[in-house]
Amino acid sequence: MSTPHPLGIHSPDQSKLEGVDPRFLIRGLLHARDQTLKAFHEIRGILKEGMTEKEASKGAARVLLELGSKKQWHRTHIRFGTGTTLSFNEPTKSSPNLNLHDPVYFDLGPVWTDPETGVEYEGDYGDTFVMGENPEAQHCADSARLLFQKAKARHHAHPARGSELYGFLNEEARALGYILREDVSGHRIGDFPHHRFTKMNLSETSFIPSESLWVLEVQILDPRGRFGAFFEDIL
Ligand SMILES: [Fe+2]
Repeated sequence: MSTPHPLGIHSPDQSKLEGVDPRFLIRGLLHARDQTLKAFHEIRGILKEGMTEKEASKGAARVLLELGSKKQWHRTHIRFGTGTTLSFNEPTKSSPNLNLHDPVYFDLGPVWTDPETGVEYEGDYGDTFVMGENPEAQHCADSARLLFQKAKARHHAHPARGSELYGFLNEEARALGYILREDVSGHRIGDFPHHRFTKMNLSETSFIPSESLWVLEVQILDPRGRFGAFFEDIL
């Protein structure tokens, strides 16, 4: 007989895709999330005007190491200015300098080891903010966060397939005057590496995803292409 899934899921396909280490605990994953959020704020604190995206990424690596994360399940993505319209997967053509009033997003994927059990938990957190004042870019950043919160609340109240969740985000983004990037579409999270179970996107799930084992990603674009905003966290 197989080990019962910690979240009590019964569908064999879903259980396989939502696989975790037998020692995995949701609170371990949430602790990794909190550590990642702490790192996010520390990295934000080291940004300086004129710095390049590459320099900021090097600084981020230092902060993560100092906080105790020795590896990352995905590398750090930092984007400035019009670079915020690019997805974390898109290669940057340049490493632009940070200008005052630029929007900035970080996407962090550090691994945190639980000292008691040795289980390696994946962190994944992304958010956008503005250096200085830029009301339009700030509104876009706030909207990405709001869209995430709306989708999460909807999922908790009316659990739905990932495809429905992204359909909802698409409509809500349009209502706010933004364009949703459909290729930024969420994924599994868990103990490292979740890739041994699946690399499926959240938007592709044909079942109701368990809320703590998936990351919801939202990236929206200014219709004039001047900037974008990214937000991601555990569903
Ligand atoms: Fe991420």
